[in-house]
Amino acid sequence: MSRLSVNIDHVGTIRQARGEKYPDPVHAAVIVEQSGADGVTVHLRKDRRHINDRDLYLVREIVASHLTLEMFSSQEMVDIALQVKPDMVTLVPERPEESTTERGFDLTQEAQEVEPAIEQLTEGGIIVSLFVDPTEENMKAAAAFGADYVELNTNYYAISKSFEEEVDALRTVEKAAHLASKMKLGVAAGHALNYRNVRNIAAIEPIEELSIGHSIIARAIFVGLERAVREMMEEIRRARRAINV
Ligand code: PXP
Repeated sequence: MSRLSVNIDHVGTIRQARGEKYPDPVHAAVIVEQSGADGVTVHLRKDRRHINDRDLYLVREIVASHLTLEMFSSQEMVDIALQVKPDMVTLVPERPEESTTERGFDLTQEAQEVEPAIEQLTEGGIIVSLFVDPTEENMKAAAAFGADYVELNTNYYAISKSFEEEVDALRTVEKAAHLASKMKLGVAAGHALNYRNVRNIAAIEPIEELSIGHSIIARAIFVGLERAVREMMEEIRRARRAINV
């Protein structure tokens, strides 16, 4: 069954909206773990618009399962990661005005963006994942650059407008997942997954981990964070049961 890492950035977004001390992402991390999720993910952005350095250090202190730090591959972020030592770093492209990560890396064009970061993080004993669009070229490049994991961008699948488009996007993710696995890369997936669309992705056998934030935190407003996490885990479990994995 795919592991679930819950992205808690939105808790920081709500806090920052009022400049208050609450809700605290650290509190959210505790509940996420107590709810049985396999890990916690935070994205430290250059502008610190949701998660800040204090959150990251405290979350590192309290997360006993698996902490993933999403970040751009700048030297500033690499230095922070080497100090904090998350279990995994997922390198993502970052455009200052974007409201969320807009795309995965195109490694055929952006090798110079990621290679120095991969080298330093690996030397520091941190597992490195690259958030990439699901293309054959990206899988090959990720393996060649020495990444441990790829996180396949599921946004194209999530925003598809017709059944045909959805099937097409799903097949693209599936093909990339199998190729990555063949190349000995660990395979994660994420972006814009929700309670409705997660099952098709969770059913793809090589996908070991799902990174999900918005839909879980949004649901938590109405049903509470613990239940929102548990319900997502149940959806993921159902997908695997359906294919007897
Ligand atoms: N994976 C990556 C690389 C991301 O940047 C994000 C958003 O921060 C997610 C997964 C989670 O996406 P969502 O919030 O849409 O579930």
